[in-house]
Amino acid sequence: MTHNIDDHLPEPGIVEEPRPPIDPYPLSAYVSWAGRRNRDPILGVFKTLFPKDGWALELASGSGAHVNYFAPHFPEVTFQPSDYDEKVFETISKTRDSQGNKNVVDPIRVDLTNAETWPHAETRLYDVVFVINLFQVAPLSIAEGISELASKALTPRGFLAIYGPFKVDGHYTTESNQNFDQEILSKQVPEWGLKDIRDIEKIAGKHGLLLKKQIDLPANNFILLFSR
Ligand SMILES: C[S@@+](CC[C@H](N)C(=O)[O-])C[C@H]1O[C@@H](n2cnc3c(N)ncnc32)[C@H](O)[C@@H]1O
Repeated sequence: MTHNIDDHLPEPGIVEEPRPPIDPYPLSAYVSWAGRRNRDPILGVFKTLFPKDGWALELASGSGAHVNYFAPHFPEVTFQPSDYDEKVFETISKTRDSQGNKNVVDPIRVDLTNAETWPHAETRLYDVVFVINLFQVAPLSIAEGISELASKALTPRGFLAIYGPFKVDGHYTTESNQNFDQEILSKQVPEWGLKDIRDIEKIAGKHGLLLKKQIDLPANNFILLFSR
């Protein structure tokens, strides 16, 4: 009998639930709500891109909701979660264990602003490096760390996928993105706010990564795909 993992997972599509107040803390109700909304659209794109087997490194994993949701769909890919905040590691591992995700390894500490914490390319290269919903709560300079790390950690044919809401050429692509940006800017945290795809592209270019695709996803988000 063939076993179809999709039989055991919720139907794809955006989950419409009331939005909790904006709170970037990775274990907050808001981040959890956002993850339930975006996980299926991201998974749909990843299914068209991921290799059959290999290694995928997630940066800024937070609660690990995404790696643990994606892992059963790619049984021959090993997922490496990471974050700079070790307080989230227990949640990532507990979710992994409760879901029986044998292809999610223990989280590692990776601070995107500190190259000394990055995984060593001599130990392993990754087929995929991905990061979800970091830029709107981080300075644009985080793109330096992401790009430099990815340029060193990716296999020759590997790719970097960045998911989130962005501006394009200095403009908002929708009114709802503008409203969202104004809402987060009103919190007056200096690094918060939507970043521009062109600025990220310029920084990635310095590290030899080119923007190959810009994929529109629901709720005015994008997946940006970079490779050499
Ligand atoms: C808004 S949460 C998103 C978490 C997860 N990607 C998600 O979508 O649910 C942002 C995450 O970025 C992490 N983070 C922020 N700055 C970082 C840095 N310099 N290096 C690595 N992780 C960082 C935080 O600890 C947090 O887990």
